Amino acid sequence: MKNIVILISGRGSNMQALLEAELPCRIAAVISNKADAGGLDIARQHCIPTAVVSHRDHPDRASFDTALAQVIDDFHADFVILAGFMRILTADFVNRYKGRLINIHPSLLPAYGGLDTHERALKDGVKIHGCTVHFVTPDLDHGPIIIQAAVPVLYHDTPQTLAQRVLHEEHRIYPQAIRWLCADQIELMEDGRVLLRRHKQIGYALISPSLE
Ligand code: GRF
Repeated sequence: MKNIVILISGRGSNMQALLEAELPCRIAAVISNKADAGGLDIARQHCIPTAVVSHRDHPDRASFDTALAQVIDDFHADFVILAGFMRILTADFVNRYKGRLINIHPSLLPAYGGLDTHERALKDGVKIHGCTVHFVTPDLDHGPIIIQAAVPVLYHDTPQTLAQRVLHEEHRIYPQAIRWLCADQIELMEDGRVLLRRHKQIGYALISPSLE
């Protein structure tokens, strides 16, 4: 059975979705860079070992990442899952876990990398927004895409209502992506795309606003 380690910085709702999904893997630990991350309590309630590696205890990114990698490796992680982990990781760290480091981002990448994705989508007036699970590469928010969910943007949405609609889908697609990974169904191809094995592809459109 594969070991996964989940990294968080805050409330940990995606982490919670993973803990409750009964994934075919061992969740070896939840690690936070913040001692007061709400998600740590949720992990403890699920009897998952937790650890804190505070970025404040390290003078630079490189030494923080080295300390973090040491803790991750102590748990023998096959996959490192970023779930609202709000630190930019060095290229050395990312390369060390090449093909084993996964992130969830609240937009349909490659659109809206970075922060404030929902505000920016609303400002642009896009009618479809969403979330993406992807492999992490040194190029921030640009790694090979595993799965995406699209949601309609409604005229009276606020960043909060849109975030809520997107988050609901995050909690559905992240466990699915990890399930595929643990079942060895995901292959990272030479061209940087992701092939999903043993999966029937279907094609239908999300049209927003909907047709009448
Ligand atoms: C999520 O929106 C995730 O996509 C982003 O950070 C947020 C974390 O939320 N990377 P939570 O801590 O999982 O509730």
